[in-house]
Amino acid sequence: MRTAYRTEYGPPEVLSVRELPKPTVAPGEVLIRVRAASVNRTDSGILRGKPWVFRFFCGLWRPKFVATGSDFAGDVEAVGAGVTRFSPGDRVWGFDDNSLGSHAEYMTFHEDNAILTLPEGLTYEEAVACTEGAHYAINFINKVSLRAGQTALVNGGTGAIGSAAIQLLKHHGVAVTAVCAAEHFGLVESLGASRVIDYQTDDFTRHPASYDLVFDAVGKSTFGQCKPLLAERGVYISSELGPGGQNLLLAAVTPLLGGKRVRFPIPLDPKGSLTLIKCLVEQKEFRPVIDRRFPLEQIQEAFRYVESGQKIGNVILTLD
Ligand SMILES: NC(=O)c1ccc[n+]([C@@H]2O[C@H](COP(=O)([O-])OP(=O)(O)OC[C@H]3O[C@@H](n4cnc5c(N)ncnc54)[C@H](OP(=O)(O)O)[C@@H]3O)[C@@H](O)[C@H]2O)c1
Repeated sequence: MRTAYRTEYGPPEVLSVRELPKPTVAPGEVLIRVRAASVNRTDSGILRGKPWVFRFFCGLWRPKFVATGSDFAGDVEAVGAGVTRFSPGDRVWGFDDNSLGSHAEYMTFHEDNAILTLPEGLTYEEAVACTEGAHYAINFINKVSLRAGQTALVNGGTGAIGSAAIQLLKHHGVAVTAVCAAEHFGLVESLGASRVIDYQTDDFTRHPASYDLVFDAVGKSTFGQCKPLLAERGVYISSELGPGGQNLLLAAVTPLLGGKRVRFPIPLDPKGSLTLIKCLVEQKEFRPVIDRRFPLEQIQEAFRYVESGQKIGNVILTLD
């Protein structure tokens, strides 16, 4: 089988494409012929082994998988002893942000992990565009008790996380202001934003407002800058730790003080996220946003593009 291959942490240049033997299934596992996977910011962190904390989950001194990749969509080709949830021929998708070596034609995965049958009506490529960003958006938003009629600002509404967050907030009946480049206003409005701000010509922190949630999905702002935009008990969440890792400290301290607060949730339960997204997709309440597609042979280019910080939604690796 063809697979992405690296034996050390580093930039995209450490990756090559090789022929390796097909993996064999152990009891409880399924063998998957991968048709598509995303290349995302989590994959980039795991490729580089940065931040260092990733290495506790992905391999301390060297990566535990030679292939990169944290999600997949494809076909079950064989099942190991004792597998009850899947059969050969099932169309499946799955995710594990601790890495699973899915940038390869074949992989194995335990049936108890985050693996489900494909949402009805989605292609393999569309399914993997509903994993990483959606999982983080769900985990960030579900830590805030939001009610229909409340308001939120999403900075970076065109990223994988931001585009998912807009849709999830809209689903909860929250009025969303999205910050992105003007050329993408149409996209974020189609996802559910009712107001848009162009970050290239305008500074959203200077617009007087009273949001119940400010969610910086690209981690470009600070709590200090956004505090004036928050309602009395409003919440600030960023996808990044912030300067000096301040968001961790602020998340510990601000809830004790009452009033405006910071949350920094640890994303958990990928299976729960896939289950929710599958349900929303089938109800036409969530749709994947896909930017570029790259064949496996161009995996270095795919990572370089993802690391440019300019992708719109999700980047797909095709493995047909
Ligand atoms: N905490 C976690 O567990 C976790 C997990 C995964 C990712 N992350 C972080 O989350 C962030 C977002 O990742 P992602 O995959 O969703 O998106 P991404 O690939 O970083 O895409 C960023 C998007 O935001 C736009 N953008 C860039 N600068 C902007 C700015 N100053 N204001 C508003 N929009 C801006 C870009 O659009 P234009 O090209 O049009 O500017 C692009 O569409 C990254 O910083 C990543 O490291 C955190």
